[in-house]
Amino acid sequence: MTTAQELVRAQCARFAALDPQLPDDYPVPRGEPLVARTPGGDVVAGIVTRTSNPPGTAQSLWQAACVFELFPLLGEHPREGMAALLAAWRDWLRDQRVPERDSACSVVWPSRDVQAARALLDGGLTPLSCLAVRPPTPPDRFTELRGTVTVRRAGPADLDAVVELALLELRYAALVGSSTYRPDAPRLKRAAAQVRLHSSDPVWLAERGGVPVAVAECGWVDADRPSAGHRLRPGTWAYVNCVSVREQDRGSGVGQRLMTAAHEEFVRAGVVGSFLHYNPPNPLSSVFWPRQGYRPLWTTWEVRPATALR
Ligand SMILES: CC(C)(COP(=O)(O)OP(=O)(O)OC[C@H]1O[C@@H](n2cnc3c(N)ncnc32)[C@H](O)[C@@H]1OP(=O)(O)O)[C@@H](O)C(=O)NCCC(=O)NCCS
Repeated sequence: MTTAQELVRAQCARFAALDPQLPDDYPVPRGEPLVARTPGGDVVAGIVTRTSNPPGTAQSLWQAACVFELFPLLGEHPREGMAALLAAWRDWLRDQRVPERDSACSVVWPSRDVQAARALLDGGLTPLSCLAVRPPTPPDRFTELRGTVTVRRAGPADLDAVVELALLELRYAALVGSSTYRPDAPRLKRAAAQVRLHSSDPVWLAERGGVPVAVAECGWVDADRPSAGHRLRPGTWAYVNCVSVREQDRGSGVGQRLMTAAHEEFVRAGVVGSFLHYNPPNPLSSVFWPRQGYRPLWTTWEVRPATALR
């Protein structure tokens, strides 16, 4: 009889062979257990959680209102195991009250596990978001920008400019990923920016002739305590939360200039690396971030509504 611990152990050994940047462990949350068998008779398992993101919560801006998340335990059977588990999940969902609108099924899985990717695609899930990482190396030499673009740290007095630029990013992201521009987005973004600008989190503004044209909102994350959904190796990480350049200033080197300032600071702070989330269908960020030294570690696969899982 295969136990859950055996599946976790085999899975973690596979992850380590696939990608040395993955954490050593795979903690799972409490939730609904699922068990399935591959066509060859091997047992796989998973835990399903249900999260609701009601109106007025920050999470409602980047997730559906009702999210079912599967934490697979596949041992050494990424493709057949994932396929069998998705089929069991679909059957389980039939007996649940699943909202037809604003709901999602999601699986966060190592980006390099292409065997599992095949089964996820066949299940109707799409790779909507990536957690990407960058080593703490100094940025490449930067070609000075023409004109009068300057970069400085933002403070509480810059709240209006930071919120305006963050909302531009959300509008763009809502076209190419899992984010949704909800009616209360301006209020939620303002509250989040206010907290950040009063904290030790670094935020940079780029200005052209004194007018704010871009923002990079960053922070620090301590990944020392493993918890469910834990995705990073231990240590202090820099987190790039939001980078947004005004539409008319994109493609002129402003984003690169901002990230040079950010990466220099990350190196000085001695972090183990920096990370961020981007949407693979975003035609700007999917090019920009790899050029900045980031590469996918975990991919969030989603299908909306949750009833569309197949
Ligand atoms: C993604 C985004 C932040 C990138 O910022 P950007 O200012 O447009 O990017 P840059 O202009 O610095 O870089 C884009 C290209 O222009 C080039 N470039 C053009 N003129 C340049 C100049 N004068 N100096 C240096 N680079 C220049 C850069 O080299 C880069 O090309 P490369 O990747 O081949 O090197 C920005 O496009 C944006 O805000 N997009 C919408 C919101 C979004 O997607 N945000 C990210 C969410 S994760």
